[in-house]
Amino acid sequence: MALKKITIAIDGHSSTGKSTMAKALARRIGYAYVDTGAMYRAVTLFALRNKLIKGEKVDEKALKEHLKRGDIMITFRPTKDGKSVTVLNGKNVERYIRSMRVSNVVSIIAAIGFVRKAMVKQQQAMGKDKGVVMDGRDIGTVVFPDAEMKVFATASAEVRAQRRFDELRAKGDTTTTFEEVLENVTERDRIDSTRKESPLRQAEDAVVLDNSHLSIEDQNEWLYQLYLSRVRS
Ligand code: DC
Repeated sequence: MALKKITIAIDGHSSTGKSTMAKALARRIGYAYVDTGAMYRAVTLFALRNKLIKGEKVDEKALKEHLKRGDIMITFRPTKDGKSVTVLNGKNVERYIRSMRVSNVVSIIAAIGFVRKAMVKQQQAMGKDKGVVMDGRDIGTVVFPDAEMKVFATASAEVRAQRRFDELRAKGDTTTTFEEVLENVTERDRIDSTRKESPLRQAEDAVVLDNSHLSIEDQNEWLYQLYLSRVRS
C-alpha cells in the first residue's frame, strides 16, 4: 500500500539547521522542499537593489506596488547535484540572499504584513497537493495549521551563531566577526518573536527539537522516524 502523502512543517529559530534537516528529509522521502526564509530574503534583495530600504526605513508603498505588479517572482530551481537554488525574476540569487547585507535587514521586510500575505499565498499554492517539506517560522501556525507533522527546532544562540559564522567563513567571508554574527542572531530572534505579524511561536501540536548537541545524522534519523510514525498512524 502506498504511504499517504502529508504536509511537513519545520519551524524554529534562525540557524538551527532547519533547512539542512528539511532538505535531507525531503530527499529521503521524495517530497518537494520549500525554503520560505529564502523567499523573504529574495524580497529583501529586491528591495535593496531597488533602493527601497534606507537604514531601518522601508518604502512600503513602492514595495507593495512592485509585489502587486508581479515584479518580484520567486521560484526554486533544482541543480544538477540534487540541490535547489532560489531564483528571483529568472536569475539565480542564492549567493546574494545569504549575504550579511541581506541578513541584516531581512527581519524588517519579513515583519511587513502585506509581504507576509503575498508569501503565504505562494507557499500555500506550492503545498496544496501535500508531499512537501516546508521550513520557516509560521508554517505550522499560519501557512499550514493542519499539517500532519510539525517540528519546532531550537538551539542556544551561541551554538547557532557559531554555525552561521562557520558557514560565512567557508564561503570566504573573512571579515565578519563571531560577535557580529551573535548579535545578528540575537537581534533577529528578538524581531522575529516580537513582531506584530505572525510572530515566531511554537504551534501547540509541534514537536520540539533542541539540536544544540545533536549530530546531523542523529537529527535526520529522528526526523525520519517521526515522519514514519505520522504516515503510519
Ligand atoms: O530562515 P532564514 O534565516 O533564511 O529566514 C530569513 C528571515 O525571514 C528571518 O528573519 C525570519 C524570516 N522568516 C519569516 O518571517 N517567516 C518564514 N516563514 C521564514 C522566514
